[in-house]
Amino acid sequence: MTARQKDPQVKIRDYDPRRDRSAVHRIWLETGWLEKGKERAVDLLVGCGRALVAEIGGKAECLVTSAPGIIRYLEEDLPFSGLTCVTTSRIARKQGLAKQLTALTVAAVAAEGALVCGLGMFEQGYYDQFGFGTGGYEHIITFDPSSLCSGEKARVPRRITSADWSMVHASRLDRARGHGSCNFNPPEITRSEMLYTKKGFGLGYCDGPGGKLSHHFWCWVKEVEQGPYQVMWMTFQTREQFLELMDLIRGLGDQVRLVKMREPQGIQLQDLIREPFKQRQVSEKSKFESSMRALAYWQMRICDLPGCLERTHLRGDELRFNLALTDPIEQFLNDSAPWRGLSGDYVINLGSSSGVEKGKDETLPTLQASVGTFTRLWLGVRPATGLAMTGELSGAQDLLQRLDSVFCLPEPKPDWDF
Ligand SMILES: CC(C)(COP(=O)(O)OP(=O)(O)OC[C@H]1O[C@@H](n2cnc3c(N)ncnc32)[C@H](O)[C@@H]1OP(=O)(O)O)[C@@H](O)C(=O)NCCC(=O)NCCS
Repeated sequence: MTARQKDPQVKIRDYDPRRDRSAVHRIWLETGWLEKGKERAVDLLVGCGRALVAEIGGKAECLVTSAPGIIRYLEEDLPFSGLTCVTTSRIARKQGLAKQLTALTVAAVAAEGALVCGLGMFEQGYYDQFGFGTGGYEHIITFDPSSLCSGEKARVPRRITSADWSMVHASRLDRARGHGSCNFNPPEITRSEMLYTKKGFGLGYCDGPGGKLSHHFWCWVKEVEQGPYQVMWMTFQTREQFLELMDLIRGLGDQVRLVKMREPQGIQLQDLIREPFKQRQVSEKSKFESSMRALAYWQMRICDLPGCLERTHLRGDELRFNLALTDPIEQFLNDSAPWRGLSGDYVINLGSSSGVEKGKDETLPTLQASVGTFTRLWLGVRPATGLAMTGELSGAQDLLQRLDSVFCLPEPKPDWDF
C-alpha cells in the first residue's frame, strides 16, 4: 500500500463574509442545495446567527449555522436556537468536521442562553451523537385542491412576493401557536426562505391592526401550470382565517391538480377532503397522487435542564424522582468549551411548578435516560412507557406509568421547518 500524504491542517473559526462567501456558495453547490442565482438567500441565512467554518488549505470547506428564536412549552416561550445548516464540501467529507462544528455550535448557543436546540435531520442517528432526540410525526398531505369540501367563496386576496418579507415575517411571528411551536427572531430568515423558494408566491389578507398581514400562505411551485404547489407555511390566528385560506387553495383547483402541505397543529385536514379514500385510489402512482405521509424529521435537545424545568408547569399530579442523565455531546467537547453537556445525577420535581437539584435521593425511584430521549419525554413526543420500549430510557414500571400521566401534553409541532 502506498503511503498517503498527510492531510493539510484544519482551522476552525467564525465565518467571515469577505473571505468565505464564495467558498460557502461552493459548499452549497456541491451539496446540491444551491441553484445559480439564489446565492443571496444563502448569504442572508448565514448572517442570521452564529456561523462556524472549518478551513482546509485556507478555504472554508465545512459550515454550520444557527439562528436564535423561541420555542413554546405549553403556555411558556423558552429561548431556543435552531441549527439552520450543517454542510461539508466534497473534499472534506468524513474528516469529522461537521461533528466538531455541530458540537461547538450547540455548546456556544447553550452557553449564550438557549434552553433548547433543534434541527431538521438528513437522516436518523447522526445528531443523536450530540444528544438530539427525534420529534413526533408530521403529517404531509397531498390533495387535489378541487377536492376540498366547499366552503365560502374567498375574498380577493393580496398578492405576496419576496419583496414583502418583512410583513410576512411579522405575520409568522404573530400566528396562532401551540405547544412546541418555534419562532425565529431575525426577519432575514424569512427573507432568505422566500428568496430561496422555487417560483415562490403567496396569497393573503391584511386584516390586522393598521393593515398588518393577518393570514397568508407561501408556496414552492414545482410546475406553475398544473402544480404541484407546496405550501411552505401558513399563518392564521382564527378559525375563519384558516378556512378562508383553505377556500383560496380550493379556488386554485380549476387549474392546479395537486397541493402539498404539512397538517397544522391540532387540525385533521382529512376532514376537509371530499372522498379521501376514492381520491387516493384513483390517483395512485400518478404524477398528482393524493396521499398522506407521516414523517419524523425534526429533532430537539434540552441544553439547560434547570432552565427548562423552571418553565415546566404541568397540569397533572406531582412527581419526584432521581434522573441519571447521559449526554453524548461531551465526547466532542474539551475543557475549553463554554458548556459541556448535561450528564449527571439529578433530583427532578414535576408538577404545576417543577424544578431540579443536583444529586441523588436514595429514597426515590430512579429514571435512567439519555438527554435525547429525556427531551422527547419532556416535550411529549411519546410517553415514558413507549420510550422505554425503543429509546434510551429505563426505570421501574410504576415510575414509567406515573410519568405517563404527569407528561400528558399536546403533540409538539414546531410549525416552522428549518
Ligand atoms: C451530513 C454531512 C454534513 C456530514 O459531513 P461530514 O463532515 O462528512 O461528517 P463527519 O465527518 O463529521 O461525520 C461523518 C460520520 O458520521 C457517520 N454518519 C453519517 N450518517 C449517520 C447516521 N445517520 N447515523 C450515525 N452516523 C452517521 C458517517 O458514517 C461518518 O462516520 P465515520 O467517520 O466513522 O466514517 C455531509 O455529508 C453533507 O454536507 N451532506 C449534504 C448536506 C446535508 O444533508 N447536511 C445535513 C443537513 S441536516
